[in-house]
Amino acid sequence: MVLKINNISKQFGGITALSNVSFSITEGEILGLIGPNGAGKTTMFNMITSVLAPTSGDISFYDEQISGLKSHQITTKGICRTFQNIRLFPEMTVIENVMTGSHCRTKSGVWKSVFRTKSQKQEEKEIYDKAKQLLETVNLLKERETLGKNLAYGQQRRLEIARALASEPKLLLLDEPAAGMNEQETVELHRLITKIRDMGITILLIEHDMPLVMKTCDRIVVLNFGKKIAEGEPKAIQSNPEVIKAYLGTEGDDDIA
Ligand SMILES: Nc1ncnc2c1ncn2[C@@H]1O[C@H](COP(=O)(O)OP(=O)(O)OP(=O)(O)O)[C@@H](O)[C@H]1O
Ligand SMILES: [Mg+2]
Repeated sequence: MVLKINNISKQFGGITALSNVSFSITEGEILGLIGPNGAGKTTMFNMITSVLAPTSGDISFYDEQISGLKSHQITTKGICRTFQNIRLFPEMTVIENVMTGSHCRTKSGVWKSVFRTKSQKQEEKEIYDKAKQLLETVNLLKERETLGKNLAYGQQRRLEIARALASEPKLLLLDEPAAGMNEQETVELHRLITKIRDMGITILLIEHDMPLVMKTCDRIVVLNFGKKIAEGEPKAIQSNPEVIKAYLGTEGDDDIA
């Protein structure tokens, strides 16, 4: 078992963002986490990455309890995420953005970076080469010297994925990677997510683009008002009456069909 979410609840004052949610992910799986706006999906990512502490419940990663660890420790253990609201360094180049993702894997400390030892220069080169390789994976190699802020929206989302991959995750959490992408970019995103899984990385995918979710995921967990209302294979989820009701009951543009 890669990740085990055990009875997680999260309260924000009077709001129950998550209520006794449990599910798990097996190695090599692409698990979808879906639900209408405000269902608690991003809050779940914040629990897994220790950005916020759960009110109750616990989470384990490869059978080791990770609740209570600091965010950077979670990254070092092998969990990395992208953000619903893109968080890049706008004034850095594309390749520099990816290189920042390697930070948690570098050996050179502060002192070495002052004196720039031979081993550090060697490490920098390795980080640069790895970043180039990742840019090729996400199809941004040609743009490597462009500033982050000058990329098109869909490219920025792919750059975030490359940066997350630079931390060498075993589990990658994607929060609405298709948001703002056109149809062609979304098709490419499907290929990219599958490719990442084939690299041996397990994936938890939050996404509102239902055709993408149905095509990409092996299994889906559905949240509504902080509760898990369904779990299963895409076909079963698509025809689950409670899931359909949850989506039709919202005013948003979510569409399960
Ligand atoms: N830091 C916070 N403080 C207070 N309330 C919060 C906080 N984060 C989330 N919430 C509330 O918790 C609930 C779940 O929010 P969350 O962002 O997890 O939803 P979501 O499923 O990701 O929705 P969306 O699809 O719109 O991104 C919402 O009611 C939200 O307003
Ligand atoms: Mg969200």
